[in-house]
Amino acid sequence: MESLNLSIENHYLKEALYEDIVNRLKEQNIDLENVKRSDIAGADEFHVRGATVSKELANSIDLNGLNVLDVGCGLGGPCRMLADEYNCQTTGIDLSNEYVRTANKLSKLVNLNNKTTFVQGDAAELPFEDNKFDVVWTQHVQMNIPDKKKFYSEINRVLKTGGYFLFYDILKKGDGEINYPMPWASNINHSFLFKIEEMDGFLKEFGLTKEQSTNQTQAGIDFFNALVARLKEFGPPKMGLNVLMGETTKPKLMNLLTHLKTGELELISGVYRK
Ligand SMILES: C[S@@+](CC[C@H](N)C(=O)[O-])C[C@H]1O[C@@H](n2cnc3c(N)ncnc32)[C@H](O)[C@@H]1O
Repeated sequence: MESLNLSIENHYLKEALYEDIVNRLKEQNIDLENVKRSDIAGADEFHVRGATVSKELANSIDLNGLNVLDVGCGLGGPCRMLADEYNCQTTGIDLSNEYVRTANKLSKLVNLNNKTTFVQGDAAELPFEDNKFDVVWTQHVQMNIPDKKKFYSEINRVLKTGGYFLFYDILKKGDGEINYPMPWASNINHSFLFKIEEMDGFLKEFGLTKEQSTNQTQAGIDFFNALVARLKEFGPPKMGLNVLMGETTKPKLMNLLTHLKTGELELISGVYRK
């Protein structure tokens, strides 16, 4: 497991990521004393439909003032949004040391470090006590985790009774082969796709009740089509997912778009209650 985690961490690795983001802000003449969340939003939400879908998910329950854990938090954009707009106290955990370092520094940069905490760790071994969080949130992470039962049992363990589990994920739909690279996996060895029925099964087994489910596939396809049109016209943005994926951005996004269109993959978000 350790070598798989190292290999996955390496897949996401972008050296000096925070410094790169700061340089890109400077190139746009943004005053580093007054950086807004919107200035970094193109890069700090690493999932299809970025900040828009996170807001939709956040609005699906009353989050005001709650204590939230983001499992596989990446650069921490969703945690900062929940802290800033919903008065949440947020904790993010991620496998990547470089992402966690960057997440903490970005929170400081936009003055949200008092309401966000980021720690390095494995989602399958959460370093938190039982029943700690009002809400557990995860977006586009489980595809990297082979032991799904452990992943969801850890989420269930740290969630308070009566609390909510909010997710937004890429799931397998058809049975055809998947082409790599993908945003989450350089090759098939990093990728552990499964179907929504299996996820439902695990959560039901742990006693969680499904309250909402939204198929986001068409919205994801529409988002990608608009993105491809913008890239053709204007080239890569100063602050986009290209900051994280560099040269491999195009093949990764095109593979994902193709499989969403052909129906091998689907995007689903939803809410469960413990
Ligand atoms: C596609 S990114 C999504 C990041 C973030 N959830 C977001 O939507 O902006 C997937 C993230 O999962 C993290 N990850 C993968 N395997 C993990 C594990 N076993 N434990 C914790 N984080 C993991 C990666 O490091 C990466 O930051």
